[in-house]
Amino acid sequence: MAGKKRKDDKFKKNILCIGGGYVGGSTMAVIAHKCPHYKVTVVDINHNRINQWNSDMLPIYEPGLDDIVQTTRGKNLFFSADIERGIKEADIIFVSVNTPTKTFGTGAGMAADLQYWEKTARQIRDASDSNKIIVDKGTLPVKTALAMERILTATNNDVHFDVISNPEFLAEGTAISDLIDPDRVLIGSRETPDGIHARNEIVGIYKNWVPEERIITSDIWSSELSKLTANAFLAQRISSINAISALCEKTDANVNEIAHAIGLDKRIGDKFLSASVGFGGSCFQKDILNLVYLCRYYGLNEVADYWESVVRINDYQKERFIFNMLLTMFNTLVDKKICLFGFAFKANTGDTRESPAIYIAKRLIEEKAELVISDPQALENAKMDLGGMDGRIQYVEDPYEAAAGCDAIAVMTEWDMYTNLHYEKIYQSMSKPAFIFDGRNILNHKMLFEIGFNVFPIGKPKLSHFRER
Ligand code: UDX
Ligand code: ADP
Repeated sequence: MAGKKRKDDKFKKNILCIGGGYVGGSTMAVIAHKCPHYKVTVVDINHNRINQWNSDMLPIYEPGLDDIVQTTRGKNLFFSADIERGIKEADIIFVSVNTPTKTFGTGAGMAADLQYWEKTARQIRDASDSNKIIVDKGTLPVKTALAMERILTATNNDVHFDVISNPEFLAEGTAISDLIDPDRVLIGSRETPDGIHARNEIVGIYKNWVPEERIITSDIWSSELSKLTANAFLAQRISSINAISALCEKTDANVNEIAHAIGLDKRIGDKFLSASVGFGGSCFQKDILNLVYLCRYYGLNEVADYWESVVRINDYQKERFIFNMLLTMFNTLVDKKICLFGFAFKANTGDTRESPAIYIAKRLIEEKAELVISDPQALENAKMDLGGMDGRIQYVEDPYEAAAGCDAIAVMTEWDMYTNLHYEKIYQSMSKPAFIFDGRNILNHKMLFEIGFNVFPIGKPKLSHFRER
């Protein structure tokens, strides 16, 4: 049986990726770019997504991605809807399907929803007629690779599968540079001769451009848990600095000064210490809740509570932001027009998954405010996120037009463009008193105050034209 695979002789190996989202699409584009001797194919159940990958309007926005896709597509990078054929032809299959948080049944709101992933495992098994290495790219609860192995080997054919864990650490907005110059690549496998052989095959792919000392290997379980732990630690830093920002606002300390002072300590480091309206993105909350679920499953309730508090502080930070707006704007937001600068969960992406802006927008609508949402990349996603909301929402790309006539601007995303706007002109066009709530601390607060705005940063003294009493 094994070895029936149709091989395209032009290429040394056939690599398939199931799931053409942010992770699968970007990773495969870079592998194709760096390894012209491999044929790389991306398949997805979403045909529309595949059509977009084959068009001039890629389904995701990532700096540098368009150029790479343009130079490789049709040469050694292909996007296809034929999943079965892709599986048959592949030597190595990366699995990069989504694993959102479960919304139903046991573990709802906490555990990962593994239905897409399990369907993929069965599909690989049923379509395979030659040996394959399966590489798990997603963030999955620990021991998933074992479940994958069990599904793959549940029927009695001669095909041999090795399952590898290769978690992805790329961040959106910098995906291409993270892939081209990664801090590390982690590859986990079983420590059997077959497992180590398969692991070396995957190391061989990355060795085409990543220095060997940055490619680390481990047992499969440690690799899976490293991904959850990395995201939990990163999110924990943001919640830590956000918790301190609340104290700063009460005591007139400046969270930026504190972040600078502690960041110079090499043991702490200066990254991921920007206080904000809260973290978003498809990974942090999902992965922490996954970790919490795992800990509770193993009876480690204290450990679960510890990590859960990272998400609790994030929720608190978003609610605190709304509460500040309400309090400052005379305890009512009814009929006030509020402009959100940014809707993406961070700059340089159109992605809005778990964006704090979604929560803020929904709460503002609950308070019966009128919203104008502005963002250079994320308006289409914003419309979907807020679809069906009862309320007055406008979507306006131009920030000047968006802010005109508004009572307040709330900065949700740290897009560079917001730092360079003509705020004098914006102030003139707004209703008075005019407020700015800088949820990202990116603006020049003193200058805004001098123009006439009442300015409310995160974790820094407010600059208000009102007399205290
Ligand atoms: C994250 C991890 O960084 C990445 O390694 C993993 O593979 C996927 O999850 P991503 O979600 O793309 O990547 O974005 P990231 O840059 O980590 O930012 C996450 C959120 O935290 C954003 O909402 C961002 O604005 C916020 N953030 C980040 C802060 O509020 N303060 C900071 O100092 C850093
Ligand atoms: P990520 O950010 O982790 O890449 P995305 O949601 O952007 O997540 O991408 C996951 C992709 O996986 C989606 O395009 C989705 O259509 C695809 N997908 C989900 N299940 C399957 C499946 N069984 N077969 C093929 N593709 C799938």
